[in-house]
Amino acid sequence: MQNWLLPLLRCPASQQALTEKDGKLHSTAQSYPFLHGIPCLYKNPGMALLEWGTKIQNYVNEESQQIEHLNMLARTPALELTKKRLQQQMQARQQNLDFLTSSLHAFLHYPPVPIMPSSQQIHSYFQLFFRDWCWASEELDAYTAFVSRHLGDRKLNVLLLGSGAGGLSYRLAHAHSNANIISLEHNPFLAITAERLMLGETLSMQHYESYPRSAEQAMQSWQLKADKPLGNNHQSLLAGFPHLPFAERSIDVVIAPWFFDILDLPFANAVRHALPMLKDDGEMLLFGPANVHKSAPEEQWTTEEIVAYLQPLFADVQHESQRLFYLDSPLAAQRRQEQIVFVHGQSPNDEARRKADDAPVKLKVTPELQQYKAQNETMHAVLGVINEDIDVPTLAKRLQEQFGFDAKEAPYYAELFIRKIQFELYSKSPR
Ligand SMILES: C[S@@+](CC[C@H](N)C(=O)[O-])C[C@H]1O[C@@H](n2cnc3c(N)ncnc32)[C@H](O)[C@@H]1O
Repeated sequence: MQNWLLPLLRCPASQQALTEKDGKLHSTAQSYPFLHGIPCLYKNPGMALLEWGTKIQNYVNEESQQIEHLNMLARTPALELTKKRLQQQMQARQQNLDFLTSSLHAFLHYPPVPIMPSSQQIHSYFQLFFRDWCWASEELDAYTAFVSRHLGDRKLNVLLLGSGAGGLSYRLAHAHSNANIISLEHNPFLAITAERLMLGETLSMQHYESYPRSAEQAMQSWQLKADKPLGNNHQSLLAGFPHLPFAERSIDVVIAPWFFDILDLPFANAVRHALPMLKDDGEMLLFGPANVHKSAPEEQWTTEEIVAYLQPLFADVQHESQRLFYLDSPLAAQRRQEQIVFVHGQSPNDEARRKADDAPVKLKVTPELQQYKAQNETMHAVLGVINEDIDVPTLAKRLQEQFGFDAKEAPYYAELFIRKIQFELYSKSPR
C-alpha cells in the first residue's frame, strides 16, 4: 500500500484511524484484509466477500449454461455462417470465463449466500475494459480532458468513485504526477483486473457482440496492456459506497464518473455521502447522463434539477454538456449516443457537511409493486403445474382443471402464459 494513503484512511465502521500490521489494516472495531494487494475496506469485509463470492459463482454458473447452450445450437442444422458466428461467440465467452475464474479462483470456494440470486455487477461491465484499454475512445478522451483541466499540476489527493476498468485513473495518474490518485471500486473483478493492468501485466480478453456489425466482426481478441506501469501516485481500494473509508476533510478532489445515478440511493442522498471527506476548498467533479435514470418519477432529475440541488452546497457550481457515443464498440451494429453533463462544484459549505440521512433500505408500496405482486402470485401458481415440456392444449387443460378457467378462454390464456414465460426467460435483455 502507498505510504501516503494510511493517514487519509478511517475504519468505515467506526471512523477510527487504521494501523497496518501482519498484512492487514486494523481499527479496534474491525480488521481489513488485502486482496491481491488491494486493501479491502468494505464496512463488513467478511459479509461483502461472501456476497461477492455468491455473485461470482452465480455468474460462472449462468455463463457456463449459456456457453453450453451455444455449443448445442452450433451443432444443430443451420447456415454455415450462423454456426460460425455462434462458435465464435462461444469461444470468446469461454475464454473470458476462464480468465475470470482464474483471476477470482478464491471466490469460487466461498459458501454461497442462497438468497442472492443475482450475478448483476459482473456481467454488464466487461465492455469497460475494451473502452478503457483497447478502443481509441473519444468518450474516455472527453472525461480525461475535463478532469485534467481541473487538476492541473497541483499536489492533490484525488478520489475516483466507481473506478471500473481503471482507464481514467490510469490516464490521470500518468498525466498528473503531483496528484495522488485513489481508485475506489466495489467489484473485485474490476478492481483486481484494473490493478493488474496498471502494474504492467498483459491480459488477454475476447470482445464479442451479440449483434455484430457483420459476420466478420462478431468477435475480436485483444491483448490489454498499459503503455507504462504506474508509479507510486496511484492506489486501488475495494470499498462499498456510501461507507467510505476516509477521514473528514482529507480529499481535495472527488470524481464521480457515471456513479451517483447508478446506486441504490436517491441521487441527492448519494452526493451528500461523498461531501464530508472533501477539504474546505475541495472540488467535486461529476459526469454522466444528463438525466438521472431512476425508476421513481420524483428522482428522475434533469440537468437543471441536479445543478439546482448542488448550488446551495458549494460556493460555486459550473456545468457544461456534450453529446458523445457511450461505450462505442467498433464491432456493434448500433451506437448509443448520450447527452453527458459535466459538473464542477467548488468549496463545499457547512450545509454540505451536514450528515446525509442513512436512507434505510425500504420497499415502497407503489402501483408497480401492487401489479408485481398480483402477477407473481398468478405466475407462481401457473409455474406450479409446469414440470415438463408443455404445449398450449396441455396447459389449457391444466388451467381448466386446477384453476377453473372455462374451456373457451383456457387455450387463449395458456398461450399468453407460455409467451410471457418465454419472454421473461429469453427476450428481456440481449445475452
Ligand atoms: C456505470 S459504471 C461506471 C464506471 C466508470 N466510472 C466509467 O465511467 O466508465 C459504475 C461503477 O461503479 C461501481 N459501483 C457501483 N456501485 C458501487 C458502490 N456501492 N461502491 C463502489 N463502487 C460501486 C461499479 O462496479 C462500476 O464500476
